[in-house]
Amino acid sequence: MSRPIIYITRKIPSSIIKPYEDRFHFRMWTEDDTPVPKDILWKECKHADGMISMLTENLNREFLRSHPHIQIIANNAVGYDNIDIDIARKQQTVVTNTPDVLTETTADLTFALLMVTARRIIEAHQVIENDEWKQWSPYFLAGTDVYDQTIGIVGMGRIGEAVARRAKGFNMKILYHNRFRNEAKEEVLQAEYTEFNELLQRADFVVSLVPLTAETFHLFDAEAFQKMKRSAIFINASRGQVVDEHALYNALKDKQIHAAGLDVFAEEPIRRNHPLRTLKNAVCLPHIGSASMQTRTNMLKLCVENIDGYFYGDGPKTAVTPLR
Ligand code: GLV
Ligand code: GLV
Repeated sequence: MSRPIIYITRKIPSSIIKPYEDRFHFRMWTEDDTPVPKDILWKECKHADGMISMLTENLNREFLRSHPHIQIIANNAVGYDNIDIDIARKQQTVVTNTPDVLTETTADLTFALLMVTARRIIEAHQVIENDEWKQWSPYFLAGTDVYDQTIGIVGMGRIGEAVARRAKGFNMKILYHNRFRNEAKEEVLQAEYTEFNELLQRADFVVSLVPLTAETFHLFDAEAFQKMKRSAIFINASRGQVVDEHALYNALKDKQIHAAGLDVFAEEPIRRNHPLRTLKNAVCLPHIGSASMQTRTNMLKLCVENIDGYFYGDGPKTAVTPLR
């Protein structure tokens, strides 16, 4: 057979695709750090048999319906809310994601964001940057304890579990809420399953790790923030759209909750004038959950392995839709 054409929507290191070049004809968008423009994406995909996509590509109904010849989409992320998965299923386009390889790295960032927000580390760094350090004083930059506090994890998938393991090391009490209760996990992690509302009421740290679906869209709304403690810190390392950002802004501004640490936003990238950027009690990061050199390389390798497995092997390793 002639080599399948694979379109890669972002510039990735050639070392990742080199071992596969005799089996595939790779084409790639080669401009550094910018998403491929829609017209070029559509043009390139006209003749593609497969693609490696990023979460910046909106592979919606219109795109999928127009490209039924694309047999496999290897999305370089664990989340795949950028793809209309129902349409993909219906027309039997295989979609794969990158679970497992990014679990520990993303849990590290989630816990780091929790600590940075609790202990006001960004503000503290800014004090040094701005040369504003005067004298030691009793409550100067005093934050919130992490150890011994109660963490409430919403979305107890692999990343949620890995965050729970870290929390255990800080002697935290662990509450979780998930679509499915997992009693085996509760035992190992000493985690307590609670209803969503009870978790909001009891947790000192509410951590969102839910995937974005129709059910989780705006899960954290005004009502949810009202239920949280006034001392609560909200952490989001999943998807921006699980939060009603307007409600979060009001909750932070009115001190209904204490602070928030956010790695993700409803519309990315955010700019300086984004309302959440104007608040002192919100720590904002540019969607770097899985961003370590090792993990980002492993994610891309897994994408290529999925494509190779589909065309030449026993099928993709990590498919989220059934095979054709
Ligand atoms: C990143 O947000 C991912 O889903 O991998
Ligand atoms: C999914 O987001 C996971 O927790 O692995």
